[in-house]
Amino acid sequence: MEKDETRAFFAARAATWDSKFPDDGPVFAAAVARLELEPGSVALDAGCGTGRALPLLRAFTDRVVGVDLTPEMASVARERGQVLIGDAAELPFADATIGGILAAGLIGHLGDPRGTLLEFARVAQTGARLALFHPVGRAVLAARHGRELSPDDIRAEDHIKPLLRAAGWEPVHFHDGDDHYLAVARLA
Ligand SMILES: C[S@@+](CC[C@H](N)C(=O)[O-])C[C@H]1O[C@@H](n2cnc3c(N)ncnc32)[C@H](O)[C@@H]1O
Repeated sequence: MEKDETRAFFAARAATWDSKFPDDGPVFAAAVARLELEPGSVALDAGCGTGRALPLLRAFTDRVVGVDLTPEMASVARERGQVLIGDAAELPFADATIGGILAAGLIGHLGDPRGTLLEFARVAQTGARLALFHPVGRAVLAARHGRELSPDDIRAEDHIKPLLRAAGWEPVHFHDGDDHYLAVARLA
């Protein structure tokens, strides 16, 4: 999707987003735990949407920031914490300053996934973890959208692991079941 299309798509969904997915809390919490955040480190929620993961991240560190492209989503998220409007591919952070990155439901919407993973690597500290997460797996998501699971899907294990490695991230965990999708990597 182009950025304008993405903004329009999510702007229309911001007000009702949380009420559509009321049961996602436990899988989100488990994904956030996998970031192994150090207290005092900076946690980034990239594509934070309405910010439903911000309080979960704050259970580990009080320095949490969300970034989202869609002002309407960011405006809801600001009720839950610090949120910047912007593109995950051009983050307003200095090199090696972020201790962990959650990207929930983001990767499938990116125009330049490789460039965004490289940008994550630029801002992350060595050893920081990145969690690419979705509260349902790829097959369930495809069915929800009435389409077949594509063999070209970059979230597939055979695609995402090489993509992560090429951007400097070493995969440490992968799960794609009906209950959730989670690819965790550590900055080498
Ligand atoms: C599927 S929603 C997920 C929102 C939230 N992470 C959640 O799980 O509830 C995807 C979010 O990513 C944002 N987004 C899409 N492309 C982006 C980009 N390039 N940079 C930052 N945010 C982006 C959208 O505006 C939207 O809020």
